[in-house]
Amino acid sequence: MKKAIALLLMAVMTVAVMGCGSSAGGAAGDGTLTVGTNAEFPPFEYVNDAGEPDGFDIALIKAIGDKMGVKVEVENMDFDALVASIGSKIDVAIAGMTVTEERKQTVDFSDPYYEAVQYVIVKKDSTIATADDLKGKNIGVQLGTTGDFLVEDIEGATAAQYQKAVDAVNDLLNDRVEAVIIDKNPALVFTEKYADQLVALPGDTFGFEQENYAIAMPKGDKELADAINKALAELKKDGTFDKLVADYIG
Ligand code: ARG
Repeated sequence: MKKAIALLLMAVMTVAVMGCGSSAGGAAGDGTLTVGTNAEFPPFEYVNDAGEPDGFDIALIKAIGDKMGVKVEVENMDFDALVASIGSKIDVAIAGMTVTEERKQTVDFSDPYYEAVQYVIVKKDSTIATADDLKGKNIGVQLGTTGDFLVEDIEGATAAQYQKAVDAVNDLLNDRVEAVIIDKNPALVFTEKYADQLVALPGDTFGFEQENYAIAMPKGDKELADAINKALAELKKDGTFDKLVADYIG
């Protein structure tokens, strides 16, 4: 009997110690938050000179992990695999991911943390300037992104889908596509590198709607969602969030 009680006590203590220092239950209850990203989307995520995923989103999720008292491990994968991997390979995804009704069927989203819009990258000598001009065009996109979905709605247009947005931009430079549709900030980063050849046109000219980035989380994991949203709110309040915007996005 004594032995049984001692064993029970030990078990209770182990559980207590494991939960210590961490405000996160749910999927991060084991003390580690495994985060999926697609590090092909500067300035939000890219692979740095040391070969590690880096960028605004990575810094943000690490700061969130610090607030939650959990270790953050980042897994770099294809963008179109992220949503389906939540709950198995990864706990959450941060990838400049736009909140969409379709994705909400599979995952929950944190409070939004950044506003975005699709931009159109064209060659400097291109005649594309309005929504009408995109009709019937061959348009480069990253597979499974909102830019990709947008092309479906453009009359007669074909989406040339790439796993990496940078490859779409290279094919624009080589005249294999006539435009690239991608989120504003990556569009600005990609065109800056080839400022003599490319120009990024604001999406509002084309009637593209505002999008919101949020962290994708397992459906129904309220404990995790509350912990992430609480951490995010704290980072906004204490100035960390604005500092990260200044450091990474400018
Ligand atoms: N905002 C767009 C979307 O949600 C593109 C995101 C691409 N992100 C990336 N890390 N490659 O579909």
